[in-house]
Amino acid sequence: MKNIIIAIDGPAGSGKTSSAKIVAEKLNYVYIDTGAMYRAFALAWLRSGMEFNTNSFKSIMENSKIELGQNESGQKTYLNEEDVSELIRTPEVTKYASSISADKFVRYSMVDKQRVLGQKGGVVMDGRDIGTDVFPQAELKIFLIASIEARAKRRLAELVAKNIEVSLEEVMDQISERDYNDSNRDVNPLRQAEDAIKLDTSDLTIQEQTDLIYNLATKIINSSYD
Ligand code: DC
Repeated sequence: MKNIIIAIDGPAGSGKTSSAKIVAEKLNYVYIDTGAMYRAFALAWLRSGMEFNTNSFKSIMENSKIELGQNESGQKTYLNEEDVSELIRTPEVTKYASSISADKFVRYSMVDKQRVLGQKGGVVMDGRDIGTDVFPQAELKIFLIASIEARAKRRLAELVAKNIEVSLEEVMDQISERDYNDSNRDVNPLRQAEDAIKLDTSDLTIQEQTDLIYNLATKIINSSYD
């Protein structure tokens, strides 16, 4: 069976993570959450107490080991062997992950790591720049979009489930700020690859969007036998 690379990009709350995880499971592929890598790095910086500049990032990068893994309770992110999967989802880490990811040094280091992780194929990788910069040769590229209201409602539900108190308006403001930063940075901004398939998930259930992506993937995988 051919092991292809599936790139899923899109803005915050567009449904990347949920669908990437399920598609990977169904195909028996590895799921790589590149946002978790930026988040873990932001957490390392927050803990370091260092200034927000490239020199600090270089030193933190040298001294931090960021790994993605899986255990019986699901996908995990490790920072120096500590399970930080929950800690990287706080509003503070979310905010700094976006600004830190605009730093050229951080980006290029992460992109290098992501290329190593995905080079053998058989991966579903989600992020902002997977189809455009990390794996422009990916066999399947999906660009997910959704209205700001739909995205904010999804994010609010996740935060409420974690007992984080926040209003819908606040979440909408945070998402808009992140959209702006992620799309307007100089290096690898969020944008749709020319050959990506755009899916608007505003009115789709997870099941529907997953089925669409899974069907596209199996078509490509099966056509590689022709
Ligand atoms: O996907 P996420 O919300 O967990 O990502 C957190 C931040 O990391 C996001 O605001 C921008 C950045 N990011 C990025 O710049 N490139 C990626 N491939 C993935 C995430």
